Amino acid sequence: MFLRATAALLGLLAGASAGPMETSGLLSDAARLFASGPGMDSRLGLAPAPVEDTANFRFYSELTAPFRVTSLPDIPFPVGELYSGNLPISASDPSRTLFFVFQPRVGEPVDEITIWLNGGPGCSSLEGFFHENGRFVWPDGATASRINEYSWTNATNMLWVEQPVGTGYSTGTPRAKSQDDIAADFLSFFRTFTRTFPSTTTYKIYLTGESYAGRYVPYIGSAFLAAGLPLAGALIYDPTIGAFDITQEQIPAAPFLRANVGPMRLSPSALEDVDKLHQTCGYDKYMDRYLSFPPPGPQPPAARNMRCDVFSRAQRVARQANSCFNVYDVSERCPTPRSTMKGQGAYFARADVKRALHAPPNTKWSLCSTRRVFSGFGGPQREGDLSPDPIAGALPRVVDGTRRVLVANGDYDMIIMSNGTLLALQNMTWGGALGFQERPRARILGEGGKELGVQHQERGLMWSQGYATGHMGPGMNPALSWRHLMWVLGRAETL
Ligand SMILES: *[C@@H]1O[C@H](CO)[C@@H](O)[C@H](O)[C@H]1NC(C)=O
Ligand SMILES: *[C@@H]1O[C@H](CO)[C@@H](O)[C@H](O)[C@H]1NC(C)=O
Ligand SMILES: *[C@@H]1O[C@H](CO)[C@@H](O)[C@H](O)[C@H]1NC(C)=O
Repeated sequence: MFLRATAALLGLLAGASAGPMETSGLLSDAARLFASGPGMDSRLGLAPAPVEDTANFRFYSELTAPFRVTSLPDIPFPVGELYSGNLPISASDPSRTLFFVFQPRVGEPVDEITIWLNGGPGCSSLEGFFHENGRFVWPDGATASRINEYSWTNATNMLWVEQPVGTGYSTGTPRAKSQDDIAADFLSFFRTFTRTFPSTTTYKIYLTGESYAGRYVPYIGSAFLAAGLPLAGALIYDPTIGAFDITQEQIPAAPFLRANVGPMRLSPSALEDVDKLHQTCGYDKYMDRYLSFPPPGPQPPAARNMRCDVFSRAQRVARQANSCFNVYDVSERCPTPRSTMKGQGAYFARADVKRALHAPPNTKWSLCSTRRVFSGFGGPQREGDLSPDPIAGALPRVVDGTRRVLVANGDYDMIIMSNGTLLALQNMTWGGALGFQERPRARILGEGGKELGVQHQERGLMWSQGYATGHMGPGMNPALSWRHLMWVLGRAETL
């Protein structure tokens, strides 16, 4: 998760409920049992995991020992070599810290570090760690945690970071006004990290993330390259790389409904209004013209028009057909699964979990920050984030600098739509040309010849469109995301 509904969007959506992310009272029965103390171990048959010997740990040292995690509440298997805690962004100001979780590869060591960032802005990267690509996950609706068969720690050394300041267990007062501010803080934090884990200093670096991290990753990547750090690739899911409130939400919304009549159980007649607005606003012509390969030229700057709010209208239609409509995965039906990450019983808000992870006991953890992580106002999407959209420079710099960037989108994601992300890429110049020159059409074939999606690469940029996949790619389609990772790490040349 997540792309947070922007202030503007919330305005547009007035009358809608706070949305799936703000549901409260989600303490599951299992979590309640777990929280109630040692008695439940025998009840659920869970033996506490044995604490491992550090002899085979690659990163254990006097410096890292204070960060070592020996076990986690309600995780009934050995956690392996695992470190977490807060590190200052700059030694001169210990009040500003970011929280990290570092887990080395399980198996043969590799000299690389893969950073994962969730979006928001202000959403915790522990979403990735605990719901998406970590070694153990506790999916919504599940009564217990389980081993993730597609954990990215099977392949690489993983570093999840809660950033920017204002997010999760991080400490300090938010003062970022742009992605450049955020990237400068991150670079500085990363230097603190590599000083603490000195053997990582020369490792190849991969930057990954999802949603609003579609803005973090390109800017942090550009800053890493400018500082001469060995950035080797990047991977972003359902990313906010363009004028996302228009290009990735408004313009593709009507065709999205048409394409998903089945999974969303819509009645085609309910779509007529939405289609009409799509045409009146010229979005049909826009898509015909610019979602072409090669594109005819740059797109005009995004024009915001309150009368052309196709996206809100499309969501109303979706909600009428499905009261449990989830904009992050339109195939979801009632009942909405209980979450281990939200509400009062949220795993990372628990005192015992904070203790185990060396997190500050007094931080009020929430999946997505309740305060703003930008200190200013305005910017292209009015988030208070003044940086230009990544397609205008930061993302092409990372593609040209690494020639190993993967942009993925899930077809069941309605908050950032596949066609919208593709439309954004068709307005980006990298490797000396504008957009993809050919329409993506190569299939991604999974086990047993199952079609997982469409792949396409040109000039160091790989595009992946995942079928039947929602916004949180690694959590919602772990097998496909494993292939993404293999490509980004340079261990495969196609998906
Ligand atoms: C990851 O490792 C686990 C064992 O820890 C194994 O069961 C699983 O098959 C591995 N997955 C992949 C994709 O290699
Ligand atoms: C994406 O756009 C194409 C036209 O280029 C259209 O045929 C397709 O139905 C759209 N898909 C979705 C999911 O909106
Ligand atoms: C497309 O790119 C041009 C040139 O970089 C830029 O001026 C314009 O705002 C972009 N339009 C959209 C919709 O992203």
